[in-house]
Amino acid sequence: MQHHTMLEVISRRAIEERVAALGRQISQDYTGGDLVLMAVLGGAFVFAADLCRSITIDCCIDFVRVASYGAGTASTGSIRLVQAPALEVSGRDILVVEDIVDTGLTLQWLLQYFHQQKAGSVRLCTLVDKKERRQVPLEADYVGFTLNHGFLVGYSLDFAERYRNLPAIYTLQDAAS
Ligand code: IMP
Repeated sequence: MQHHTMLEVISRRAIEERVAALGRQISQDYTGGDLVLMAVLGGAFVFAADLCRSITIDCCIDFVRVASYGAGTASTGSIRLVQAPALEVSGRDILVVEDIVDTGLTLQWLLQYFHQQKAGSVRLCTLVDKKERRQVPLEADYVGFTLNHGFLVGYSLDFAERYRNLPAIYTLQDAAS
């Protein structure tokens, strides 16, 4: 198996502090609402697990899986639903929880999908906002960290399904992007 050179860009401690702050903000904003955290698999499972435990209001958690990337690091641009949410979405406050916004195509597709499903409200929360390759004018409502470039792994971000288990976030020094 090929070994990649990595550089830590966001520490475990920095992630913990930022996720706690996001949880406080979301708890304030959704007080009195009908919040459903909609984690996008597989990249957001670690983020969603930590985020939901820093949220202090009543909420539900569900999962959606879309496919947009192959084994490489560049977007194919085509998105399809692989696993639909299990919960009823209609009329509820959906907060889509993503690992990273890159081109924006995945979140744009998900926004449209939840509007079509007649969600009461749809907002976006992403751990990392990577603006360099954005193809659609999409702004997340809650952003953990903004980074301009690099291919990131760790904290459930993967390269060809590897490195999701690393507790901090790293850039791959030798992956084409
Ligand atoms: P977008 O549709 O281009 O915004 O890409 C969103 C998806 O691409 C994310 O949910 C990730 O799964 C994947 N992705 C984009 N950039 C990275 C990265 O730097 N590391 C790991 N996955 C990435």
